[in-house]
Amino acid sequence: MAQALTILGIESSCDDTAAAIVCGHEVLSSVVYGQTALHADFGGVVPEVAARAHAEKLDHCIEEALAAAKLTLAEVDAIAVTAGPGLIGGVLSGVMCAKGLVAATGLPLIGVNHLAGHALTPRLTDQVAYPYLMLLVSGGHCQFLIVAGPDQYQRLGGTIDDAPGEAFDKTARILGLAQPGGPAVETAGTDGDPKAFDLPRPLLNQSGCDMSFSGLKTAMLRARDSVIAAQGGLTRQDQADLSASFQAAVADVLVEKTRRALAIYLAINPAKPCFAIAGGVAANKVIRARLMQLCAGSGTEFIAPPLALCTDNAAMIAYAGAELLACGQRDDLSLSARPRWPLDKSATPMLGSGKKGAKA
Ligand code: KG4
Ligand code: ZN
Repeated sequence: MAQALTILGIESSCDDTAAAIVCGHEVLSSVVYGQTALHADFGGVVPEVAARAHAEKLDHCIEEALAAAKLTLAEVDAIAVTAGPGLIGGVLSGVMCAKGLVAATGLPLIGVNHLAGHALTPRLTDQVAYPYLMLLVSGGHCQFLIVAGPDQYQRLGGTIDDAPGEAFDKTARILGLAQPGGPAVETAGTDGDPKAFDLPRPLLNQSGCDMSFSGLKTAMLRARDSVIAAQGGLTRQDQADLSASFQAAVADVLVEKTRRALAIYLAINPAKPCFAIAGGVAANKVIRARLMQLCAGSGTEFIAPPLALCTDNAAMIAYAGAELLACGQRDDLSLSARPRWPLDKSATPMLGSGKKGAKA
């Protein structure tokens, strides 16, 4: 068997600056510099601020990843970098940094789709066999993919507006909870009644695997305002009940749409059926438990990579780079940053993909 290659991965497509060294299925190091504090006052990621922070931090991040792996750049076999989709300034920072290193060292360069990084993570962590079903659910993405190879994806459906993580973050703001909203809403909801508020389950009864979460945000705002109008403020119990009700609505939608995606996937008769989740929202214990239960009922293995590899990181980019390199993919110094880059090129672009084509 060929010796596993040692790959340096670089990620800077949103608000995490990350570098990692991966050899085969082993993560030798994974360094992530988050930018939460930088954007805290703005209610969202500010692209220009993010790009500048990436440009400042990338060198340190790469040096730290090499040091933690006890390697020098001369001992690395190739460089993989996120080349899209994402915020153009951030993606450019990473791509330019990688090109600089490649120009200096002559190492092979591989441009990786950020979503492919997430989608291939179950192979890095659990050596899952193709084809498997994937739910990628984060602050920026929500889609079902049948992953059949490092560059072979079938998108079964996804959100037509906001991602669930975005809805969790907005809900936390509405309820006066901390950011990032997902963990705060989950914690607050622990003592809450998930049936206390009757929130909508958008598109639940519509056929297919598409989802919508923006209406749920508006419904949360109305529910909160009606409580405040009735009693002049929110008690801790109101926060708990609203959080639990919101979480139950998101879980209901994700479970029902996963049931449909599973039916499509199982119809292709995979030898070892497997469903994997990734993205920050995959950390949610209620959502995770319900998806696990659904899989158990259909004899499908359930895989949830460790959280540090579910959220944005560069180990997933290095691993995806290794798989692509093994298939013969290699880029050169003409590699460009692609803010929009759908994994499934044949799928109809999701709503909101704009004039320049499909985002993801
Ligand atoms: O994958 P990720 O780290 O970054 C991207 O969006 O690319 O996901 C972050 C999102 C945030 O919106 C955060 O609120 C959400 O994941 N999140 C959660 C939980 N932990 C993080 N959502 C629900 N429950 C959680 N426990
Ligand atoms: Zn991501």
